[in-house]
Amino acid sequence: MDSNGAHTVGVLGVGTMGAGIVQLAAQTGHQVVACDLSVDALEKAQLYVRDGLSRFVGRDAFSEKEAEEHYDRIHWTVNLEDMAGVEAAIEAIVEKVRPKKEVFAALDEILPSGALLLTNTSSISITDLASATGRPDKVCGTHFFTPPPVREAVEVPRGLLTSDETVEKVKALITSFGKLPVVLKKDVPGFVGNRFLMPMLIEAARLLEEGVASKEEIDLLVKKGIGFPIGPFELGDFIGLDVGLDVISYVHEELGDPYYAPPRLLKELVRAGRLGRKTGGGFYEYPEES
Ligand SMILES: NC(=O)c1ccc[n+]([C@@H]2O[C@H](COP(=O)([O-])OP(=O)(O)OC[C@H]3O[C@@H](n4cnc5c(N)ncnc54)[C@H](O)[C@@H]3O)[C@@H](O)[C@H]2O)c1
Repeated sequence: MDSNGAHTVGVLGVGTMGAGIVQLAAQTGHQVVACDLSVDALEKAQLYVRDGLSRFVGRDAFSEKEAEEHYDRIHWTVNLEDMAGVEAAIEAIVEKVRPKKEVFAALDEILPSGALLLTNTSSISITDLASATGRPDKVCGTHFFTPPPVREAVEVPRGLLTSDETVEKVKALITSFGKLPVVLKKDVPGFVGNRFLMPMLIEAARLLEEGVASKEEIDLLVKKGIGFPIGPFELGDFIGLDVGLDVISYVHEELGDPYYAPPRLLKELVRAGRLGRKTGGGFYEYPEES
């Protein structure tokens, strides 16, 4: 940590979420190592961060010169070894147990012994991910919501062996990002966010499958009737239907509750490569984003 309280933070995986976390960390004064195994993903993330920073300039949050300084704090890389000096690494790769445990084991070898190993998982057991490392006391969840520079709260699920000291450091880090940390008392599948959100997506898909109403009508009722800011199909496309399916499948398997059986429609869209905004189409079409 430098004299201004800034840290060097690593972000592994710069897709939908990682890119937003990179931007957020840089614009709040931290040095950032942004790592992905895909050069294409790094290039897309660079565009995302440039665009995101200029939106904040447009809202007078900081000047163009400051935006340049924020951007220059980011080191973009495909080499995991570049994480060697970070004080905290935030993993934001695919929502599957095995690859997450593999990168946690690799990071555990590379990171300084006192560094925190954090994960942006939105459903997976922190205790399980921590078991792939020799530092389970320094492993914790930091579940940012999308888009990370905009959403105000961050869910902090702690594992069985996460130490109180780590939780305090995580709360301080999230606060330094300008966000509100909410520490969960238990490490449950799907945490709070997705135990609330995924049933909404499941119900919406089932209502559509049963022909009760069109997706447009369901979204309209949820927004203009119930008063939510976004409809379930719009939200699914925004999150990524592959991510939604992975979360629902994990919660289904872990809880053994048939309610969470993934809707067939969701499976079919993912099999067809219709993952939402990021692929130009999901429930809806987004031709300009493909
Ligand atoms: N999409 C959301 O709205 C959302 C919200 C909250 C949390 N999350 C969680 O954030 C995580 C990332 O989700 P996402 O939507 O950003 O996924 P994504 O598919 O958009 O991005 C994942 C990135 O990880 C990279 N990657 C995969 N394996 C890697 C490896 N071994 N090393 C380095 N990079 C690797 C990929 O190239 C890709 O760029 C998941 O755990 C997800 O559950 C997602």
